[in-house]
Amino acid sequence: MKHFSRSPECVFYVCCGSKCKKSGGKHLYKQMKSEVKHRRLKPHVQVIKTGCTDRCKMGPIVAVMPKNEWHLQVSEEKAVDLVNGYLTPHP
Ligand code: FES
Repeated sequence: MKHFSRSPECVFYVCCGSKCKKSGGKHLYKQMKSEVKHRRLKPHVQVIKTGCTDRCKMGPIVAVMPKNEWHLQVSEEKAVDLVNGYLTPHP
């Protein structure tokens, strides 16, 4: 079994299933990728597209791991806040 030499500290899973895509999921994905790149967080943070997470009525959905936070009806501003939140020290 192969192991990655480096694992991200934080992963944002952005739902890009058909319903979330219609409500802006794909745009959020691109925006969050861009924000991570802009803030030079790539070694620590990863943004991944997912398929439907079965919460379609509350989309677009962003899950933050390993915190296991599920954000519903995520706006563009909220998406940027989520990425920036990684930079804020946690207790
Ligand atoms: S398409 Fe995103 S939760 Fe179903």
